[in-house]
Amino acid sequence: MLSKLSLLAAAVGLHMPLCTANSRLRLGQQPGLAASAYPANLSIQVDPTPRAWPPLSPIAKRSNLNTNPDGSTFLWLPQDEYAGKTFFDRFQFFSDKDPTNGHVNYVDRSTAFAKQLVYVRDDGVVIMKGDDTTWLDKGVYRDSVRISSYAQYTTGLFILDLNRAPWGCGTWPAFWTLGNGAWPTTGEIDIIEGVHDNEHNQVAWHTRAGCTLTPEANFTGNIVQLNGQDNLDCNGLVNQNSGCGIIEWSRASYGPYFDSIGGGVFAMKWDENGIAVWSFYRAAIPKDILDGSPDPSQWGAPSAALEPKNCDPLQFFANHSIVFDITFCGDWAGNSYATSGCPGTCEDRLTDPGNFVNATWSINSLKVYRKQLIKGRITNDSAAVARNKFWTLYGCVLVIITILSAWT
Ligand SMILES: *[C@@H]1O[C@H](CO)[C@@H](O)[C@H](O)[C@H]1NC(C)=O
Ligand SMILES: *[C@@H]1O[C@H](CO)[C@@H](O)[C@H](O)[C@H]1NC(C)=O
Ligand SMILES: *[C@@H]1O[C@H](CO)[C@@H](O)[C@H](O)[C@H]1NC(C)=O
Ligand SMILES: *[C@@H]1O[C@H](CO)[C@@H](O)[C@H](O)[C@H]1NC(C)=O
Ligand SMILES: *[C@@H]1O[C@H](CO)[C@@H](O)[C@H](O)[C@H]1NC(C)=O
Repeated sequence: MLSKLSLLAAAVGLHMPLCTANSRLRLGQQPGLAASAYPANLSIQVDPTPRAWPPLSPIAKRSNLNTNPDGSTFLWLPQDEYAGKTFFDRFQFFSDKDPTNGHVNYVDRSTAFAKQLVYVRDDGVVIMKGDDTTWLDKGVYRDSVRISSYAQYTTGLFILDLNRAPWGCGTWPAFWTLGNGAWPTTGEIDIIEGVHDNEHNQVAWHTRAGCTLTPEANFTGNIVQLNGQDNLDCNGLVNQNSGCGIIEWSRASYGPYFDSIGGGVFAMKWDENGIAVWSFYRAAIPKDILDGSPDPSQWGAPSAALEPKNCDPLQFFANHSIVFDITFCGDWAGNSYATSGCPGTCEDRLTDPGNFVNATWSINSLKVYRKQLIKGRITNDSAAVARNKFWTLYGCVLVIITILSAWT
C-alpha cells in the first residue's frame, strides 16, 4: 500500500515539471552556452567566439537580436578591434606608386613612424596623416600613408569611431575595403571618401561587370550621376573606373563640419542581405554602438545601400582588407581641382605644408563584428503542450488503477 502511494507520488512528481514548463512557450536550450541568459523560450546554439572583445557580456543584456528576411535570427558578435597602441601592428604599410596617380609618396612603416606621420597618442587616439611640416619644390610629391589590414573579411559589420577625417584643397582621403586578386574581381567598398572641402561623404562600390544599384532601395543619399543621369552600373572597368556611388545627404558626413562637431561613427554592414553604410555625428551615435552590441535594424534607413536584388554581395565581394589612405591631387583631387573652388593649381597647392594641416585621420577605434546565426526559432509548441497533457492524464489514470487494484 505504502509503496503504491509512493508510486503515485513519483508519477505525479514526474509530470508536474513538464506541466509547468509547457504552460509557457517551449524550452529548447542547447548545452555549453550562455543560454540561460537568453529568454527561456529561445532555442540557441552559438559557436565559440575566436576572439571575444569586450569580454563577452551576458548575452541576456544584448538587445541586438536581429531577424533575417527568411525569419532566422542572429547577433553581431565582436570579432576584431583595432585601437590604441597595437593599432598599426595589424596593418601593412603600402609603399608602392599610388594606383590612382596621386602626387603622393607613400612611405613604409619605419619612415611613417620616424616622420611622425603615424603615432598613437597617450590617450590611445590613433593618428595618421599627410606630411604637414615640409616645404616642397614644385613637382615633388608629398609624403603620406596608406595602410591595409592583414586580416581579410568576407561579410561583417565594420564600425569606425573617429574624431577627424582628412580634408582640404588637393587632399583625397579614403576609408575603404578591398578584395584580393586582380582589381576589381573581388570588389571594393568605399565607406568614407571625398576631395577638397567637400561636405558630403561619397560611398561607392567597384565590381566586375554584372552588379548594379537598386535605385528604389531605402537609403537617404543621392546616386552619383553620369552625363546627367543616375549611374547604377558598379562595373569598375568602365566609366573611368568610377563604379557606382551614393552621396550622403548629411553635410556633417565629410570635411570641416564633420571635424568641427567632434567627428562620429561610420558603420558598414555587409552580409547576404546587401551592403549598407550609415554615418552618425558624435552626438547622434546610437547607444547600442557605444555599448558594443550594435543593432543595425534600429538605425533607420542607411545613407547608402547596395541591395542583393541586382548585386549578390557574396558573389561580387570577397576577402576584403580594410584600407586607410590619404593621397593628393591624382585621378580625383587633381582632375576636379580646377572646378572645385580651391585656389591656384593642385601642384602649387602641394608645395606648402600649411595647406595640409587638416589632412589627418584621428581614430578612436575600428571594430569588426561577425554575424552569428542563432540556430532554431522562437516556437510556441502547442503540440508539445498537448502531448504532455495527454501523458499526465494517462499517468494519473494508471496510478488510480494501481491504487484501486492494491485495495482490492
Ligand atoms: C519568452 O518567455 C518570457 C517569459 O519566460 C516572456 O516574457 C517572453 O515574452 C517570451 N518571448 C516570446 C517571444 O514569446
Ligand atoms: C522602404 O521602407 C519602407 C518603409 O519602411 C517600406 O515600406 C518599403 O518596402 C521599403 N522599400 C524597400 C525597397 O525595401
Ligand atoms: C578568399 O580567400 C580564401 C582563403 O584564402 C580562398 O579559398 C577563396 O578562394 C578566396 N575567394 C576569392 C573569391 O578569391
Ligand atoms: C583647417 O581647419 C581649420 C578649422 O576648421 C580651418 O580654420 C583651416 O582653414 C583649415 N586649413 C586648411 C588648410 O584647410
Ligand atoms: C500558443 O499556442 C496556443 C494554441 O495555438 C495559443 O492558444 C496560445 O495563445 C499561444 N501562446 C502564445 C504566447 O502565443
